Amino acid sequence: MSHPEKKPPPFFRIRDLRQTLGGHPVLRGVSFDVTGGETTVILGGSGAGKSVLLKHLNGLMRPLSGSVAVNGTDISMLPERALTPIRRQIGVLFQDGALFDSLSVGENIAFPLREAGERVESRIRDRVDEVLELVGLKGQHRKMPDTLSGGMRKRVSLARAIAGRPDCMLYDEPTAGLDPILSESITKLIGEMKKELRLTSVVVTHNLGAMRFLADQVIFLKNGEVHYCGPPAGLDASDDPAIREFISADAMGRT
Ligand SMILES: Nc1ncnc2c1ncn2[C@@H]1O[C@H](COP(=O)(O)OP(=O)(O)OP(=O)(O)O)[C@@H](O)[C@H]1O
Ligand SMILES: [Mg+2]
Repeated sequence: MSHPEKKPPPFFRIRDLRQTLGGHPVLRGVSFDVTGGETTVILGGSGAGKSVLLKHLNGLMRPLSGSVAVNGTDISMLPERALTPIRRQIGVLFQDGALFDSLSVGENIAFPLREAGERVESRIRDRVDEVLELVGLKGQHRKMPDTLSGGMRKRVSLARAIAGRPDCMLYDEPTAGLDPILSESITKLIGEMKKELRLTSVVVTHNLGAMRFLADQVIFLKNGEVHYCGPPAGLDASDDPAIREFISADAMGRT
């Protein structure tokens, strides 16, 4: 007798996720899966709920109702202590980079490694060198963050986020505030991370170009609701007015 093939659970399984902030519903029943090793891009206008959604994926925010499961474990009710090992699997690139300005580039990157219990200085140094090379900043560990350009800060933040070898990366607006050339180079870097490190990635962005380059799956959010979930090509074919408006605004450079 043949057994039905057992499929591994998706990296993230989000079901009927609801959140209310400041008395207003921000997420109104969001459901989707993120398959391991794939890239999901979350699109939507300002205030759609993209950053709030992202913060639920590593337990920084807890659902009002509904669930978020990581590799089959529902994290919505887990105590903080039980969340720590799950958070270590998930690197985050925050919207503003959030580097420590009083620490050198190298110490910024070493920080999460030390926090995770790494004590062997030579191993820390090797990993810092390795990830700096990966983001195109070889040998820059002595620089201080306030002497770096916006694009370099993003790269250092990215290096810090991947230093602990996460299985997954969450990116919140990785190209916001960068000129078109830097923006493209960060987008390419995210694509390389996915390929070389086999990272599962969730990328929040307004940038349709980045979406087309990176996405295996697109989620379009508006007012906390999913208007589209599927492959990038289907978005162009959608006749949902909110999506048409978003795409045509982008064509005019207004998003
Ligand atoms: N801590 C909070 N308290 C109250 N309201 C909040 C809080 N965080 C977010 N909101 C509200 O939730 C809604 C969604 O916010 P969110 O930051 O997720 O938007 P976004 O889609 O990421 O927008 P942007 O593209 O501008 O970053 C907004 O109306 C925002 O004002
Ligand atoms: Mg946001």
